[in-house]
Amino acid sequence: MGFSSTSVPAVHPADFQFRCIACGHLSDSASRDFRCAACRDLLEITYPAWKQRKPEPEPLTSLWRNRRTLMNDADLSGVWRFRELLPAVDEAQIVTLREGNTPLYRLPRCARSLGMPQLLAKHQGMNPTGSFKDTGMTVAATFARRAGFHWVACASTGNTSASMAAYAARGGMRSLVLVPEGKISWSKLSQALDYGALTCQLRTDFDGCLGLLQQLVLRAPVYQLNSINPFRLEGQKTIALELLEQLEWEPPNHIIVPGGNLGNSSAIGKALVETRDLGLISQLPKLSVIQAAGANALARTVREGGKRLVAVQPDTRATAIRIGSPASWKKAVQALEATGGACEEVSEIEIAQAKAEIGAEGIGCEPASAVTLAGLKRLLKRGFVKPAETVVLVLTGHSLKDPDYTIDFHRGELFRGTADESAATALGPLRHPPIVLDAMLDAVLRVLDQAEKS
Ligand code: F0G
Repeated sequence: MGFSSTSVPAVHPADFQFRCIACGHLSDSASRDFRCAACRDLLEITYPAWKQRKPEPEPLTSLWRNRRTLMNDADLSGVWRFRELLPAVDEAQIVTLREGNTPLYRLPRCARSLGMPQLLAKHQGMNPTGSFKDTGMTVAATFARRAGFHWVACASTGNTSASMAAYAARGGMRSLVLVPEGKISWSKLSQALDYGALTCQLRTDFDGCLGLLQQLVLRAPVYQLNSINPFRLEGQKTIALELLEQLEWEPPNHIIVPGGNLGNSSAIGKALVETRDLGLISQLPKLSVIQAAGANALARTVREGGKRLVAVQPDTRATAIRIGSPASWKKAVQALEATGGACEEVSEIEIAQAKAEIGAEGIGCEPASAVTLAGLKRLLKRGFVKPAETVVLVLTGHSLKDPDYTIDFHRGELFRGTADESAATALGPLRHPPIVLDAMLDAVLRVLDQAEKS
C-alpha cells in the first residue's frame, strides 16, 4: 500500500453528526484530524434523532440490565450494552475484547480515615488491557475498521498505545505507536510490543508526539485513535453510564477523575449531561478533575478564567498524566462548568501516599489514578466535598501498569535525591519493603514475630 493522501477512506456518516464544540458547525463527516472545517476546533458527536424521538428512560435501563445475561459479543461488552447512546453500527462489525463491566468497590479504610461514611471507586484498571482506554478504543477501532483503514495510530503516555495495539490486532488492523522515549512505564510499552504495534520512541514528550501525529494523519492514510477522535469519547461515556447503573440511577454527589489530555473528563461530563437531558438521572453529579502539580495545565487554565489554555512544561512521576498541553482542555472546561465541578492539583508526595492507601485496600491502581484520592482530601479540606456526600473515584489504570513506581516507593527510593526526600519520611508506615533473608526457618519466624509486634 502506498501512502498517497488520495487513497484515504472517508469517515462515513450514520445516525449521528459531528458538531464543533466552539462554533457549533454541524457536518456528516469529519476530516482526518477530527477538527472543524470552519474554525479548526475539536468535534463532538451529536445525535439529531434524539430531538425527534427521545429514548425513553425506563425501557432503556431494563434493556441494558437484561443484556448482562446474554451471550453475544455486543451484549457481553460493557460498552456496547449501552449502544442506544452510541453511534450506530452493524453488530457484526464490532471490535471488542469484552471491555467495561468493571467493579465499583468500596474503600472502607480510606473512608474511615477521611471521616466519611463511605467512599466508592470505579476501577477502570479491570479492563482487558488494564486501563479505561479500552472503553473508548472498542468504539473508535470499530469505526476505523468500518471506514476501511488498514493503519491506526496514536501518541501516548502508554495506556492508549497498549489499548490501541490490542484492539487493532483484534480487528485485523496494523498500529503505529508514538511514545516519549524514557517517559512511559515498561509494562505499557511491553503491551504495545506484544500486540504487534510498530512502536516509535520519540525524543520528545507526549505533547511533541501528539503534534507529530496530527501532521502525520494529514499525510498518510492512518486513522488517529487519540481522544481527539470523538468516537473514543463516545465509548468512554459508558464509564459513567455503568457507574450510574451500579448506583441504581441514583447519582452520586461527586465523581472525581484524573486529568491528563482531558479526554476522559470530557467523555464523562458529556455522558452526565446526556443522561440528565434524557431523564435517566434527575440531577448532575459534580465532576471534578485532579492533576499532578507538575502537569497542571487545566488547573492553571481554570484559575485564569478558562478562556485560554495555559500550557506547562510537564514533570511528574505519574507518567500517564505527564502532559503539558492537553488537547481536550476546552471540552473539560465545559464539563466542569456544566456539572459545577472543581479542578485541583496535588503534589508528588500526596500522589504516592494516596496510591499506597488504595493499595492497602487490596485494590491498587497506577500513580495517575491515585491523584483522585489525593484530590478528594484537598476538596474535603476546602469544604467543596462534604464528608456525608457520596463520592466516586474513577481509578483509571491497574496497579501492574507501573510496578517500578510501586517498588521504588516501598524500597524508599521514590524520592531519593529529590527535594521531597525528607518530607517522604512521613510515608514510612505505608511502606512494605521486601526483606532478603537466608533460607532458614528461624529467620522467617523472627521477622514474623517482629511484624506481629509492630
Ligand atoms: N489515568 C491514566 C492511567 C491514563 O493513562 C491517562 C491518560 C489519564 C488518567 C488521563 O486521562 O488523558 O483522558 O485526561 N493517558 C493517555 C495515554 C494520555 O496516552 O495513555 P485523559
